[in-house]
Amino acid sequence: PAMADTVVVTAAHMIDVLKGTEVDAPQIVIKDGRIASVGHKGDAVPAGAKTIDLGDETLLPGLIDMHVHLTVDPTISGYKALNYTPSFWMTVGVANAKKTLDAGFTTVRNVGSENYDDVGLKEGIEKGYIEGPRIVPATYILGVTGGHADATEFPPSITTDEYNIANSPEAFVALVRKVHKYGAEVIKVAMTGGVLSKGDSVGAEQVSPEEIKAIVDEAHRLGMRVAVHAHGTQGINDALRAGVDTIEHASLADEESFKLAKEHGAWFDMDIYDDDYILAEGEKNGVFPESMAKEKMVGRKQRETFRKAHAAGVKMLFGTDAGVYPHGTNALQFVKMVKWGMTPIEAIQAATKNAAEALDRTGDVGAIAPGRYGDLIAVKGDPMQDVTTLQHVAFVMKGGKVVERE
Ligand code: ARG
Repeated sequence: PAMADTVVVTAAHMIDVLKGTEVDAPQIVIKDGRIASVGHKGDAVPAGAKTIDLGDETLLPGLIDMHVHLTVDPTISGYKALNYTPSFWMTVGVANAKKTLDAGFTTVRNVGSENYDDVGLKEGIEKGYIEGPRIVPATYILGVTGGHADATEFPPSITTDEYNIANSPEAFVALVRKVHKYGAEVIKVAMTGGVLSKGDSVGAEQVSPEEIKAIVDEAHRLGMRVAVHAHGTQGINDALRAGVDTIEHASLADEESFKLAKEHGAWFDMDIYDDDYILAEGEKNGVFPESMAKEKMVGRKQRETFRKAHAAGVKMLFGTDAGVYPHGTNALQFVKMVKWGMTPIEAIQAATKNAAEALDRTGDVGAIAPGRYGDLIAVKGDPMQDVTTLQHVAFVMKGGKVVERE
């Protein structure tokens, strides 16, 4: 019967992320998985609807993490990963998809996995085999020989798959077309060196301005956005000039970067929590000693850059790099974002309203509004005052179905 698919959710409060305000006594009607109306307790309830009252809790839209790696386990870093067969990582992804959803993240952008694992996870979730968030997959991280996306930890006597490596604009265009063919919905490029990769300098540009321009033009032609891993200043600025959509990490961005980001409407997606975890647990987890040294160089600087970028008016996203630190603890980053200059509502909007805009999915996710999916979470206490409340999600609903109820 049609009515069986109607659910009415009520609670004491709701965060309206589009307006940036808190509303009392909301009543949300969800039909066939999508929000039909947002009203107030006492409004007429459709006959035959199932009702869920969340008492004194506060409702928010399902959260969005714009930078995760579901198939990565932070405790298996560096050469420790060599102990496992390739399909092992898919099981890691299955477990982490569930942890992420239970933590209130109903949508994630997975910015890098091998073997098209993130596409498989997405298909398994959509088909109902496993539970997890909505996934926007990037598939492979694209990059140059010897760069952050290459397997630089091996000597030349060991040959590795170079499926994701290119060294000219033409070759990058071919890679963009290939990953798109097999399910990529966003393109991820390693523009500068990284922290966890061996042998590259974290600040150095790796992809040329001509190459990034070719990638951006082709991705946009195919209807995909481009997420760029960039810690170094030159790489950030060349990527912004080429028209990329999101800068990941952005650690050493400068005033010129802020200006370019605003001119081009690009977002910064800065993982400012994971430094704490890497410094505390990295050595034990197998992180390369030189990576530990690189982390010490950029961790604090990145947080200072976050404060400056936000103050300068750069559009900000919520992206954690979960995988580098434990999945399911994504919400720990909200506290850092507030500590480094945001108001609680700005941090919440980064993980909802802004994220939906950056995904080009404002019809689907990122707000409790008619037409969007019935992706809702609830917390005890007031997240507008205290973002630590987001670390203990009491209720998760995805597409109108209750996933978790404390
Ligand atoms: N995946 C990133 C890299 O290897 C992690 C950086 C973590 N550190 C940080 N301060 N955000 O470059």
